[in-house]
Amino acid sequence: MAVIAVTKERRDGETRVAATPDTVKKLIAAGFGVVIEAGAGATSSYPDGDYETAGAQIAPDLAAALSKADILFKVRGPTPEEIAGLKAEALVVGMLNPHQDKATLNDLAAKGLSAFSMEFVPRITRAQVMDVLSSQANLAGYRAVLEAANAYGKVMPMMMTAAGTVAAAKVFVMGAGVAGLQAIATARRLGAVVTATDVRPAAKEQVESLGAKFVAVEDEEFKAAETAAGYAKEMSAEYQAKQAALVSEHIRKQDMVITTALIPGRPAPRLVSAAQVASMRPGSVIVDLAVEQGGNVEGSVAGQVVETGGVKIVGYANLPGRIAADASALYARNLFAFAGLFLDKEGAFAPDFEDEILKAALVTRGGAVVHPALAS
Ligand code: NAI
Repeated sequence: MAVIAVTKERRDGETRVAATPDTVKKLIAAGFGVVIEAGAGATSSYPDGDYETAGAQIAPDLAAALSKADILFKVRGPTPEEIAGLKAEALVVGMLNPHQDKATLNDLAAKGLSAFSMEFVPRITRAQVMDVLSSQANLAGYRAVLEAANAYGKVMPMMMTAAGTVAAAKVFVMGAGVAGLQAIATARRLGAVVTATDVRPAAKEQVESLGAKFVAVEDEEFKAAETAAGYAKEMSAEYQAKQAALVSEHIRKQDMVITTALIPGRPAPRLVSAAQVASMRPGSVIVDLAVEQGGNVEGSVAGQVVETGGVKIVGYANLPGRIAADASALYARNLFAFAGLFLDKEGAFAPDFEDEILKAALVTRGGAVVHPALAS
């Protein structure tokens, strides 16, 4: 029986956990053994006792958890200490941040481990249930609006009271992928007047179906801006200049701006300049969801709220970690589905490295970094 170990997250500020009592039960039913390091679920509000009831063994410390592991489940990449504690044949699964965290990839490779980066799971129908980018971005988009509302000194919905009418907040969402669409839906539920932009033409209909207005330069380049995989392309300098002019005119009338724009494997595109921030009214709020990938907003700082000219730029890192119980629950279900790929038709542990999904997610094997996108 293959044993899955789940250890505490050791990276700064990481509050999520890679398995919940619910997924432990399911993993055990599927034929795995599960070891949880004591306290691993504490920051996500999952006590050791609940894991034990679900059938997991609780290991008193990291070394004890790792010594039995055939598979290590992580949220973030494992630390050097965790890598050292694993046996060389073990599999590692987590959000390894492979484009930015080369050191961890090299450590995993040096130990000879086979590591899977969940960010690389292809967005095919069979893998939707394993799509961590979607499960976490969806929650980040929701939380971003609550952070904005919290930092805003006014109310979101229009209110008609005996003492007078309060206007609805104007919210502009930049980047209408998974996070942006959830931000739009959340801001609408709170009663805001919402507009949104994206460079992918497919986003227009999705934005409008959520009751928001679409604002974008819709030229020939825009019409061809989506890759076959459904992602944004990096836009030309000319397009970016036209986009900036349109955004400048729009942004100064907004109360809140939520930016979510990303391009896979590239730094986040710069969408809001310092001058555009300065054009906003005091009391306005910007939330930069791309802050950890370099930021969409000039002046945003990871992990901080920066105030400039009365405008707050919220740059909290790891927004899903601020709703850790649900973020963990969805992430853990993504990993449970992924673990199913390690079993053969009879339910025996026999990972098929030729499986389309495993192959796409595999980043290190046999002592080397093996993913084509990471070849340096
Ligand atoms: P993402 O996280 O890579 O980027 C977020 C958004 O930023 C995207 O909509 C992108 O077009 C936009 N963006 C990039 N540069 C921009 C710029 N200069 N200005 C404005 N916006 C910009 O994307 P995400 O959220 O992961 O989704 C990308 C696409 O994949 C979407 O079409 C989504 O519906 C699709 N998708 C498909 C899935 C599937 O088929 N299983 C699952 C999840 C998403």
